[in-house]
Order: sequence, then C-alpha cells, then structure tokens
Amino acid sequence: MTARAAIHDLDLDRWEEYEDILTDSLWLLGPRANHGMHTPEYWGNFVPQIPYQAMRRFTRRGDLVLDPFMGLGTTLIEAKRLGRHAIGVELVPGVAKRARQLVRRESNPYGVQTEILMGDSADPATAERVREVMARWGFSGAQLLILHPPYHDIIRFSEDPRDLSNAPTEEAFYAAFERVVANFAPLLEPGRFLVLVIGDKYARGEWIPLGFRTMERVLRHGFRLKSICVKDIQENRGKRGQHHLWRYRALKGRFYIFKHEYVMFFERRGR
Ligand SMILES: C[S@@+](CC[C@H](N)C(=O)[O-])C[C@H]1O[C@@H](n2cnc3c(N)ncnc32)[C@H](O)[C@@H]1O
Repeated sequence: MTARAAIHDLDLDRWEEYEDILTDSLWLLGPRANHGMHTPEYWGNFVPQIPYQAMRRFTRRGDLVLDPFMGLGTTLIEAKRLGRHAIGVELVPGVAKRARQLVRRESNPYGVQTEILMGDSADPATAERVREVMARWGFSGAQLLILHPPYHDIIRFSEDPRDLSNAPTEEAFYAAFERVVANFAPLLEPGRFLVLVIGDKYARGEWIPLGFRTMERVLRHGFRLKSICVKDIQENRGKRGQHHLWRYRALKGRFYIFKHEYVMFFERRGR
C-alpha cells in the first residue's frame, strides 16, 4: 500500500492525546466558543468549533482555506488562530466591513495572510478574483472550502436579489448554491475537503430538506461524500423562553422542532 500524504498536522502515533478532535458523527458542541474576536452579535454565524474541527482534521499549518459565504468572518478568525491562510467572500457590504474589523483585530501569531473580498460568489468573476489573490500568495489550489450558505429564506441577510436568502423559490436557491459550488470547486486541490454547513426549513406545513438537496448539488461537481455529521442547535437568544410555545405548536402542527443541522464532508475526486 502506498502511503498517502497527510492532510493534517496530527501525529497519528499520538492519536489518543487529541481529545478535542471529533470523530463521531453526532456533534453535541454545547455553548459557542467565545474566544478572541468571535462575536454573537450577528445571528447567521456558525460556532467557531465548526471551522476549528474542519481545519484541524483537514488542513496543515500554512494551508489555504476559502469561505465564499463569509458572514462575520468566523472562519478567518479561526484560521488566524490556527495558522492557516484564508480568503472570505461576502456579498453584503456592511457585513464584510464589520468582518474586516473583527478579523484585523484578531492577533496573528503565525503571520498568516487573510483577505476579504466583497462580491457575489455565484458569479464566476468573483472566483476569478479569489484565484488572483491565491496566485499573489503563491497558491495554485486551496486546501479547504467551507460553505455555510443561507438556509434559503429563514434569515434574510439583505435586500440584494443576488443574496441566496432572497432566491424567489427553493429551486432558485439550489441553482444559485450550485453556481457557487461550480465556481469554487475548481479552486480546491483534488483530494481535499469541502465542508457544507446547513439546516433544513419548514414551509407550508412541510419539512424542506435543504441539507440533502444541497448535498446532491455538491455531488454533481466531482466530490465524494465522506461524512454527514449532525450538530445540535443551541437555542439562540431570540428563541429563549419560547420553548413551551414551540412545544405546543409542534404538538398541534404534528411536526418536530428543529434541534439539529448538518456538517457534511466531501472529498474532491481526482487524486
Ligand atoms: C449563514 S451566513 C454565514 C455566516 C458565517 N459562517 C459566519 O460565521 O459569520 C451566510 C452569508 O452568506 C452571505 N451571502 C448570501 N448570498 C451570497 C452570495 N451570492 N455571495 C456571497 N455571499 C452571500 C450572506 O450575506 C451571509 O452573510
């Protein structure tokens, strides 16, 4: 058997020491990590533990991470802490500007590069701009791609029609999501990982499986599915205190309350 080059910095002879690294598919993460410049001020962000887990297992120090739905820059902040270079793309100027402040304020112990581009990730010209930054930094490919799109229209991020949260139908949402995958997949080195973080939604009395539908779209672009992890959703501040109301609604409406979202791992074929 030929040895495969490691895509992480873990010493597998010492595997028992890595107690912080998850290997099960059920992720009960508990409260959000609140170190450094991470902030709960924006309600569409993911917990820092997600990019942390993905980067520790699927990148090495000095590798490059791309995040085309950057939001407030959780991935970029975590990348600085872990010594990975990172490029984020965000459509909404106010969000990108705030992310820039937060990412800049995070300390940079490993001297990595971070870049924030404002733009539409579904537009091939945006991916081209990302490629230019990569070339400037000496990268022909990235080592990790993190996708945390809007969960269709559950949270509206802006009035911009290019914003995936404004897609007029579910089909339009999947199509726009797939354009982002098509633009960014070629930037990822073969054998490297794409991470999709997404939850489902409920509409017109029906459970809409956004997770599985977007998973299918990723699989059309030269990836193989490696894992579907299910992560717990902690009640956000807005919903706190409404537990009884939701239980009543669920019992009456014959549904179950969303308490999970997906963190899916795909490997780019071709190595
Ligand atoms: C779920 S949030 C991501 C949050 C991020 N993971 C964080 O921790 O802050 C999705 C983000 O995608 C952005 N977005 C929506 N459509 C986009 C598009 N076409 N191109 C780039 N960004 C987009 C939204 O403005 C929003 O900030």
